Amino acid sequence: MLIKKPADTLPSEITAPDVYRDRRRFLQTAALALGGMALPDWAAAGERLANVGKSRYDAAGEKLTPLKDISSYNNFYEFGTDKFSPAQTAGSLRTRPWSVAVEGEVRHPKTYAIEDLLKLAPLEERIYRLRCVEGWSMVVPWVGFPLSEVIKRADPTGNAKYVEFTTLYDPRQMPGQRDRVLDWPYVEGLRLDEAMHPLAILAVGLYGEVLPNQNGAPIRLVVPWKYGFKSIKSIVRIRLVENQPLSSWMKANPHEYAFYSNVNPAVDHPRWSQAKERRIGEFFKRPTLPFNGYGDQVAKLYTGMDLRKYF
Ligand code: MTE
Repeated sequence: MLIKKPADTLPSEITAPDVYRDRRRFLQTAALALGGMALPDWAAAGERLANVGKSRYDAAGEKLTPLKDISSYNNFYEFGTDKFSPAQTAGSLRTRPWSVAVEGEVRHPKTYAIEDLLKLAPLEERIYRLRCVEGWSMVVPWVGFPLSEVIKRADPTGNAKYVEFTTLYDPRQMPGQRDRVLDWPYVEGLRLDEAMHPLAILAVGLYGEVLPNQNGAPIRLVVPWKYGFKSIKSIVRIRLVENQPLSSWMKANPHEYAFYSNVNPAVDHPRWSQAKERRIGEFFKRPTLPFNGYGDQVAKLYTGMDLRKYF
């Protein structure tokens, strides 16, 4: 949920010292991560970060999960299957140079250097709930831009019905890929209309900072109404395709993981209930909401579909 549209942002808020400090920090870290890339390019991107602030609550009044939890309790199987390994080992991932190929059923395929992707659209803060299929959840202030911005520019052909995303494959940098826990590289997919929905973003930062490696640097998908595993990290390819992609989790266990994976408290995982979730940092569980609470905005994408069958 976007807490503040740029138009709602008062100049006094833009220049508030803490916001300014945050923005400067984002630029400085980004410049470092870019390995000495000239700052002026980033200064321009930074001007667009005006609404990256210090909000502690989302629009529904829910408390943001602290950065230390978001960046130390991760699922990133390329760096191990337990929650704590990614924060310890993802330093081996080199996020510069990095490029993302946009290809397939499009009139304008293009391979973007990450620096160019960052300039494609204004960066915004989006505070979203992330619900993991395992039953935990967080509230994360992402920095990113709508996925639709990339897809629109590629100009999909009439054959494009789905979008397939692929993570980097490099077992030297991603030691977890030496174990065959999944069929690497990690692949995920969305239907084209889901991918074009304004809530679906490509995230490049969180808490106003460049994305930590363990959270999917330098660029990852965030689809807040679906279970967290759809939000694929460290993307190198976005491919428009005619047929429904086969995701890594569908390949690994088709009985447990299907294509849509919309958050749905009424459909249990074969091995556990999905009715409740534990917010990281809280003791008592809370009810899970259909579409993770984004139903008003996304339920219409699934009109007429049996969501028990297409889980
Ligand atoms: N992307 C890749 N490439 N590899 C993964 O193992 N894990 C997924 C998703 N994206 C995963 C991935 C799962 S299960 C979740 S819950 C989220 O990333 C976790 O994102 P976070 O670590 O930023 O909270």
